[in-house]
Amino acid sequence: MKLFLDTANLEKIRRLNRMGIVDGITTNPTLVAEEPGEFEAIIVAICKEVKGDVSAEVVATDFDGMVSEAKHLSALAPNVVVKLPMIPEGLRATKSVSGMGIRVNMTLIFSANQGLLAAKAGASFVSPFIGRLDDIGQRGMEVVEDLVKIRDNYRLKTEVLVGSIRHTQHVLEAAKVGADIATLPPEVMDKMMKHPLTDLGLKRFLDDWEKAKRTKPSITV
Ligand code: E4P
Repeated sequence: MKLFLDTANLEKIRRLNRMGIVDGITTNPTLVAEEPGEFEAIIVAICKEVKGDVSAEVVATDFDGMVSEAKHLSALAPNVVVKLPMIPEGLRATKSVSGMGIRVNMTLIFSANQGLLAAKAGASFVSPFIGRLDDIGQRGMEVVEDLVKIRDNYRLKTEVLVGSIRHTQHVLEAAKVGADIATLPPEVMDKMMKHPLTDLGLKRFLDDWEKAKRTKPSITV
């Protein structure tokens, strides 16, 4: 499963990308609004840092506006994927711009039927928001399970990109059910690396080594 970061913060992206574990980035208007600087400049800088796909979202909600923003955003860098909202005009815009070769990530998906329609319209990615469904007492992962099944039943090329991830268990479940991509807040990716037994184990190895050096000076590396 590919792992994306769900952030527009260049510093956090750089830090994790250096480890070689970041396959792409998703942003949204809320995440971009949290960062200083102009929208386009932020997207261009992220696209230079990360080789994989970088989602940038339109803010228009009418067909013409979405198509025009999609063309503008996709021209910023070859790895830009345009995020369009799952509304009727968004479906129409997806059909139109994907026909022009612009890759679309259809966002704000809260049901498998919405995802199916997005795939039919030509979206390269569908983004179910699982944390927001969990927040209202539904099981967000169920939508992911359904979308993975639909993808496999019809051998769809559309990738299932799990968004609104809140914790490491979400990532694990997404991987187990066969999602193509999970996009994580940087803090969740940090937590995936950690286990108290790893820290304890490393400390014990290093302590034992130090002790051994005192009694057996010949074992230095
Ligand atoms: C995904 O593409 C979205 O940017 C994101 O995952 C939304 O998550 P949130 O519910 O934490 O805002």
